[in-house]
Amino acid sequence: MTLIEARVAPGVGVSNGTSSKAAFDRWFRYPAGLSQDALTRLFDSRRNPTQGTVVDPFCGAATVGTRAARHGWGFVGVEAHPEVAELGRVKLAAPPDLDELGALGDRIAQAKTLPVSIDAEHDLVRRCFTPEALTVLVALRTAIIEVDDPTQKYLKWALLATLRDVANVKVGWPYLRPGLSRTPPHLDVAHRFRVRLGWMIADLAGRHTTPEARVLQGDSGDAQTWAPMRAAGVTGTVALTSPPYLNNFDYADATRLEMFFWGRNASWADMVADVRAEMIIATTQQTTVGAAAAALSGLSELPTTESMVSDLVTRLAHERSTRRAGKAYDRVLPSYTQGIVNVLTQLRAHLEPGSWTGWVVGDSAPYGVYVDTPKLIETAATELGYFAAESEVLRTRGMRWRTNGTRHQVALDERLLWIRTPID
Ligand SMILES: C[S@@+](CC[C@H](N)C(=O)[O-])C[C@H]1O[C@@H](n2cnc3c(N)ncnc32)[C@H](O)[C@@H]1O
Repeated sequence: MTLIEARVAPGVGVSNGTSSKAAFDRWFRYPAGLSQDALTRLFDSRRNPTQGTVVDPFCGAATVGTRAARHGWGFVGVEAHPEVAELGRVKLAAPPDLDELGALGDRIAQAKTLPVSIDAEHDLVRRCFTPEALTVLVALRTAIIEVDDPTQKYLKWALLATLRDVANVKVGWPYLRPGLSRTPPHLDVAHRFRVRLGWMIADLAGRHTTPEARVLQGDSGDAQTWAPMRAAGVTGTVALTSPPYLNNFDYADATRLEMFFWGRNASWADMVADVRAEMIIATTQQTTVGAAAAALSGLSELPTTESMVSDLVTRLAHERSTRRAGKAYDRVLPSYTQGIVNVLTQLRAHLEPGSWTGWVVGDSAPYGVYVDTPKLIETAATELGYFAAESEVLRTRGMRWRTNGTRHQVALDERLLWIRTPID
């Protein structure tokens, strides 16, 4: 394997949030999406075939999928979050009649005066809005639920994306802070909903082709999830992805407001069992003792990876033992690594031999113990038969915490890692 030493790529920006301006990305802000720069680098012509199918095993809101569609390529994405998987599908599906969708949007916006009650809304939802704004949101939701055809999903996502625009508390990503009030950036709820629907219609109208695209919902580390792709006889020619970073976001928690408002989940426990069930374990909230032990023994077939993980687990466990109620980072790491190994295994099975896979992924330093996640992924991939790794630094991270005395001072970065599936 040739490893080109990590170097800083010129001209790459400092943020990696989903763009609030780019077509399709602006439909709904989703945490840790790819920056436009990182995305452009992923679609690097030296590694991407000129035609074929792009695979994204952590496809989120389908940022990679819509860019693939722009290039006229096919796409298969896998996403564990059921509602976010739906958003990706809605973006990629052949659009409905857009004039009719606009007219329907106008009618829904008029429903703002429907007499509705907000008494039964989840407590968290009630804390995020003034009663007046919530009443309009509930009225629009009521009208949208009555739409009994495929356009309902466009209206639904326009409304869900409106929530954070009209909240009167801090709702920045990733986590809500309902205790901190603010002036909502947008006061006219129905108008904002219609503006957002207008963006969706404009983006759909501007798309020239609708290539073959599918978003599979489930765990991309599980062979079962990929069954529809196999059944359709599709094989990927390149994988472009950004996995959850170790110890970064809880993707279920990050969408709590939308899940409770839409009524998908009625409680935290319900949401964890439903939305988070198939996600890779990447945060301490997701770990259990049993899962960590099973993951560590599952790694025994990859001895170099196992030894890297075991060494880090020892150090993390030591750090935890020196703190009162310390966090179980030592349990997250084996489960996370095992989850990545499972995904690498499935990618190998669903891509042409010799396909490039590009990963945008950051490192981390829980309790100041440096975990080189890109290196860990590369090591596991090598032991699974992948080859030709290359990596470059896209941006430095973690600097905004520099002045927080309780935080570690380890410099972090985000890298683009390229590895190829074996040529059997
Ligand atoms: C860094 S985000 C990627 C965001 C994506 N690029 C986008 O356009 O929104 C990682 C995504 O992986 C998803 N995920 C986590 N574990 C997964 C798993 N085992 N299988 C499939 N998706 C998973 C999360 O729900 C999250 O949406």
